[in-house]
Amino acid sequence: MTWFGFVPLIVLIVIGECAGRQLHPLPSKAAGRHVKPLQSICPYNFAHRGSNGEFPEETVAAYKRAIEEGADFIETDILASKDGILICFHDVTLDNTTDVANHKQFANRKRSYEVQGINITGWFVVDFTLEELKLLRVKQRYGFRDQQYNGKFPLITFEEFISLALDAKRIVGIYPEIKNPVFINQHVKWSDGKKFEDKFVQTLKKYGYKGSYMSKEWLRQPVFIQSFAPTSLTYISNLTDLPKVLLIGDLTTRTEDTNQSFLEITSDSYFNFIKNYVVGIGPWKETIVPSINNYLSEATDLVARAHAHGLQVHPYTFRNENLFLHFNFSQDPYEEYHYWINKIKVDGLFTDFAGSLHNFQEWTSHQREGREGGASKLLHKIAKMISSYKANEKLH
Ligand SMILES: *[C@@H]1O[C@H](CO)[C@@H](O)[C@H](O)[C@H]1NC(C)=O
Ligand SMILES: *[C@@H]1O[C@H](CO)[C@@H](O)[C@H](O)[C@H]1NC(C)=O
Ligand SMILES: *[C@@H]1O[C@H](CO)[C@@H](O)[C@H](O)[C@H]1NC(C)=O
Ligand SMILES: *[C@@H]1O[C@H](CO)[C@@H](O)[C@H](O)[C@H]1NC(C)=O
Ligand SMILES: *[C@@H]1O[C@H](CO)[C@@H](O)[C@H](O)[C@H]1NC(C)=O
Repeated sequence: MTWFGFVPLIVLIVIGECAGRQLHPLPSKAAGRHVKPLQSICPYNFAHRGSNGEFPEETVAAYKRAIEEGADFIETDILASKDGILICFHDVTLDNTTDVANHKQFANRKRSYEVQGINITGWFVVDFTLEELKLLRVKQRYGFRDQQYNGKFPLITFEEFISLALDAKRIVGIYPEIKNPVFINQHVKWSDGKKFEDKFVQTLKKYGYKGSYMSKEWLRQPVFIQSFAPTSLTYISNLTDLPKVLLIGDLTTRTEDTNQSFLEITSDSYFNFIKNYVVGIGPWKETIVPSINNYLSEATDLVARAHAHGLQVHPYTFRNENLFLHFNFSQDPYEEYHYWINKIKVDGLFTDFAGSLHNFQEWTSHQREGREGGASKLLHKIAKMISSYKANEKLH
């Protein structure tokens, strides 16, 4: 085969999935401090609670790592402290991911509250001021992940989180969740009479987040606002036109605010309503492709129906460990990404391992300009010329 015999093959690859997508090199490898835009051709890489597969979740270390690894957006859960400061933390209790149990001064701070119909006993975030919360150190949620960073990092505020994204050397979006809004509004009161959702939007506005999906303003500071509570999203639609995403839990749960069933909030008639407020849905993976005994079953029609309503689909959560991989994927997380991106055709993925998803997308896009020289660069150029020639031909 001659050297030119490769060209048609390369063309095929280049104009295949993710054609034309410019992947940003890892920041450490980027030349200079040129600000790279958000990529918007391939499904988005959402770093779930930062790179929490490697570092304790929702800490500076986890978010910095996710940014280094090429995440398009860093994801976080917003709760409020007793004194009304918005913080990045997933659970309403501190027990499972901090060292609160080791702090003797807080031994009498344990409480039992009903949270979304379930009685929970523990140390609740809403019973601690920010100053007290800052005394705690975060630890890994899972015992099978790296424990060496336990006790090293404090939890952070929403504002500190935003600064991490804004200080990045390329455009990095944020994906904050209005977490447990019913519970937070029950337990935390603001002196100006505003509620949790108001404070959440106020914070985004303070840092310049504005504009609808894909607007010039949005592309400069991209954000998706997520919540499981439909009324939080409809309420804030009066406050901001920033894009919103309705999260969808498992089949057995009901919405915390409107007490709607899963079946109802995934119906066509509900999509017809909610699409006036949100740009997409964020479903649990199992609602799209259920599994039995760790084998995938048939995919439901959820993605097709959401897309028919013009809604994006951002499923959660992708994790590298064997424990979380269905047997169909031969214990290979890349196989799982391939399936969800190319077969199920989702628009973004929440992953605990932003680096793996980034590598998968980079290695399968065959767009390596700037990272490889010589022959591959030349081939790429030729392929581009041919594909633009072909595009012109179509126009005539
Ligand atoms: C939670 O505990 C309270 C007080 O013990 C009890 O009255 C209530 O029924 C419990 N709720 C649930 C959902 O178990
Ligand atoms: C800690 O995590 C376990 C396992 O997910 C859960 O059952 C428990 O309720 C959590 N504890 C608290 C206090 O939230
Ligand atoms: C939005 O504002 C309008 C006008 O003030 C009001 O009628 C409507 O109820 C508000 N919607 C929500 C969801 O709060
Ligand atoms: C939510 O709806 C279910 C089913 O109709 C009902 O059994 C339950 O009591 C409702 N919960 C609340 C808090 O209203
Ligand atoms: C997953 O594997 C099971 C068992 O081999 C098979 O029945 C099922 O069709 C597979 N699912 C997919 C989506 O490949």
